[in-house]
Amino acid sequence: MSFASVLVLNGPNLNLLGTREPTIYGAETLDDVARRCREAGERLDLAIDFRQSNAEHQLIDWLHEARETQHGIVINPAAYTHTSVAIADALSAIAKPVIEVHISNIHKRESFRHHSYVSAVAEAVICGCGTQGYVLALERMAEILKSKKVK
Ligand code: DQA
Repeated sequence: MSFASVLVLNGPNLNLLGTREPTIYGAETLDDVARRCREAGERLDLAIDFRQSNAEHQLIDWLHEARETQHGIVINPAAYTHTSVAIADALSAIAKPVIEVHISNIHKRESFRHHSYVSAVAEAVICGCGTQGYVLALERMAEILKSKKVK
């Protein structure tokens, strides 16, 4: 039994990791990222629920579910980062710690990627660390949840 559970949520096109613009996003597939997250979860004593959807409404429905079932959220909202007030609102509504992850350094890229609606509701933002960013986010989430004494 883990001391806390974390939803790791991935937005649109991240199912194509490994084949999608590998010079930007690297060679690892989403299954590789899921495996890394589960390994980190075992080490950190966190139960990991790893999901991906291309649909905004599905991501929002899963966030609503997480209100009852998860202690924290690690989210790579992908392109919805830059467009979705609805996902930011859902994250605010569920009132759980949120860490935003981007594989690439969004600030080094096109200017439309520089603004995130999610950052304003996140405890932390990790970008430009490649897929390692997910592991770093889980390490930080474990600290946050321990300090909140989640049981
Ligand atoms: C991304 C960056 C976003 O701008 C982009 O739309 C993505 C992936 C990243 O992980 O670097 O799909 O979130």
